[in-house]
Amino acid sequence: MQNSLAIHPDHFRQVQNDGFTDIGSLLDYESGGNTFRLHCQNGEVTAVFYNASTLRVTMNPDGEAELGRNSHVLIPGPEETDVRVEDAEDRLLLETNSMTVVVSKNPCRITLLDRATGKAMAAETERGMMYNARGEVACFKAMDADDHFYGFGEKAGFLDKRGEKMTMWNTDVYAPHNQETDPLYVSVPFFMGLREGKAYGIFFFNTFRTVLNLTGEQEYFFWAEGGQLDYFLFAGPGPKEVIGQYTALTGRIPLPPKWAIGYHQSRYSYQSEAEVRELVASYQQKQIPLDAIHLDIHYMNGYRVFTFDKSRFPAAGRLIRELKEAGIRIVPIVDPGVKADPEYGVFKQGIAQGAFCRKMDGSVFYGQVWPEKSAFPDFSEKDVRRWWGSLHRYYTNLGIEGIWNDMNEPSVFNDSKTMDLDVVHGNDGQPATHRELHNLYGYLMSKATYEGMKEEMDNKRPFVLTRAGYAGIQRYAAVWTGDNRSFWEHLEMSMPMCMNMGLSGIAFCGADVGGFAHDSNGQLLVRWTQLGALMPYFRNHSELKSIRQEPWAFGPAIEALVKRYITLRYQWLPYLYGLFREASLTGIPLMRPLLLEYPQDVNTYNLNDQFMLGSQVLVAPVTRPDTNVRAVYLPVGRWFDYWTDQVLEGGRHVLVQAPLDVLPIYVKEGAILPHVPGRLTTGEPEEELVLHVYLPQPGADAAEYTLYEDDGGSFDYSRGALYEQRITAALSEPLTLDIRAEIICGGYAPSWKRKTIIVHGAPAGLEVKVDGVAAALREPELPGLAGRIAVEWE
Ligand code: GLC
Repeated sequence: MQNSLAIHPDHFRQVQNDGFTDIGSLLDYESGGNTFRLHCQNGEVTAVFYNASTLRVTMNPDGEAELGRNSHVLIPGPEETDVRVEDAEDRLLLETNSMTVVVSKNPCRITLLDRATGKAMAAETERGMMYNARGEVACFKAMDADDHFYGFGEKAGFLDKRGEKMTMWNTDVYAPHNQETDPLYVSVPFFMGLREGKAYGIFFFNTFRTVLNLTGEQEYFFWAEGGQLDYFLFAGPGPKEVIGQYTALTGRIPLPPKWAIGYHQSRYSYQSEAEVRELVASYQQKQIPLDAIHLDIHYMNGYRVFTFDKSRFPAAGRLIRELKEAGIRIVPIVDPGVKADPEYGVFKQGIAQGAFCRKMDGSVFYGQVWPEKSAFPDFSEKDVRRWWGSLHRYYTNLGIEGIWNDMNEPSVFNDSKTMDLDVVHGNDGQPATHRELHNLYGYLMSKATYEGMKEEMDNKRPFVLTRAGYAGIQRYAAVWTGDNRSFWEHLEMSMPMCMNMGLSGIAFCGADVGGFAHDSNGQLLVRWTQLGALMPYFRNHSELKSIRQEPWAFGPAIEALVKRYITLRYQWLPYLYGLFREASLTGIPLMRPLLLEYPQDVNTYNLNDQFMLGSQVLVAPVTRPDTNVRAVYLPVGRWFDYWTDQVLEGGRHVLVQAPLDVLPIYVKEGAILPHVPGRLTTGEPEEELVLHVYLPQPGADAAEYTLYEDDGGSFDYSRGALYEQRITAALSEPLTLDIRAEIICGGYAPSWKRKTIIVHGAPAGLEVKVDGVAAALREPELPGLAGRIAVEWE
């Protein structure tokens, strides 16, 4: 409950200079390879080049930097890096092959230079680095009038966070999310600054409650209530480079199993085997694609994790097996709270092994969650993670391949909404308070879950979905945005939220389609399904007391549209899968804010209601009720309307018609887009591959695409069992389209029996050559669409 007490003057404290000690002047320094120890008046600053484009800066009032703490979040240690040093009277210049850093001496301040222009980026201001007696630390950086800020993990509100103040403290928020609902479930203290197309990144590697405050005009700061000032500076110089640098440090998504990127249906809760079977029968009878059904808390025996309620699910194993034979996976929810029941095996084991979180006095911390009094595993300990991971054998033995982690902030039904702060985690020999590790709890739970599942799944790829996380969570789990509502505003907000998550390394994310709480309606469900169909993670989920929102819940007309867009997802699967592969290798998200592709274009800097899917496709969903028309910004270039093939000149806003059955999608001239026919599950073999080629301009650079395929479920791809084909298309003469396809890796044989190329924008008389040979026309002109021809591709 909130009333005006929330704004009592005593609750208001700002970070100001008073009480804080500045690090002071640089007195002298020592260097060894890539490490610089800067001895300052009031403490020590350590600067370590992790590689040529990543610098780690730590500040400690008394003594050396602690570089090993919570280091499991980081993937590589520092690499050997050549650093040239220029020691001038007032400053030290540190330069690698891709990064120039100035350390001013009086006072000690750290600034990144843009190498092209010599301009200061991420410059520390007069206030610089500081600490106080309460153990708080802060760092102030200059903000230019043209600076824009993105990332910050899971945050409500708009894309550009300039003017916002954000706290990192994983929190279960059931209240409606709006721009000032902060913090939420996931904490990623990483952001990217963008100025006139140039970008740098900062990862504030501190797991305590932190605040990133961008409300100032000329400076911003990041602050933590404890721990050391410790941040990584990424040199860019473009936004994609920043993401590459950040995810090289904190990891990239594993390639998901294909079924996990199909459509998921959830409800709090499908409460019995009969209900699940009825649900599947409806999907099958209505021929609506489906890959996964989620079981929410009611599947368990009294909310005891790692159990099934025998009366509701008398034969869970058979159900799971039979559904899997039909290509549908069951994903059960697993919360961290273990029911304190002395006759329950998991609780007994946890107590016997000392696996639960303990308070300072050594007693187990108990909190109320769904099973009432519960204990919480201390995931900061390797042994506990292993134990928890191994418990998943219960699920894998039943044939389960995906787990849904929830309530792992951890959420506790008490005033603080979480565990007591005097819980002391073992932390593998480096004991730490819950105040320090709170933000890591969900991340560590999902790590334990992913690793345990992987261990038990015999070379199959596990899928883990989580609500809470920290930087690096992408290595273990997909993230959904928690308890949204069936509000049009939440449909709209899911775009900037997921785009910023993507910029923060979390490429596999999504929001509950149709809205979780509140009552959905037909129109909203159609619009949300349209968007969800092209978001990385696609799950319809709703709450106990809300009206039903399965595809058929609002009558046949709505059902037909929802089905059409779920089917669209399956048609687009090879393109999506290729983007997942790219994200797993580079960190670049599938769902991209336009600024990522067009960082020089100021029109993209706070474009919230449209996104790029990869670099070639622009999606502009409708997010308002009774709205059949919307403005779309098309960046410079020529764009094909996906539905009509109408070509639109970009570099402008256009007003487009979008009746309820239309999701506006634009494909860039020169794009190559693979499709397969819609199927009922991703497990059905892809019989036909259709390569859509959007005619490039004569003389323009060849269109290029890398087609990716593998078995969709095992880790064999990591040992070379994959198929990769590089395809190019160029208009060599005005009427000859030259398509070339080169197999880069043939370690896997795709299932396509027939391959077709459809050329869009084909002028009359266009000849298509594939690898130099004239291709036979399959269909000279596709009905109703001038300029589309289909040719055979052997
Ligand atoms: C939380 C989750 C929600 C789930 C519910 C019951 O509110 O965010 O998705 O349905 O708990 O488990």
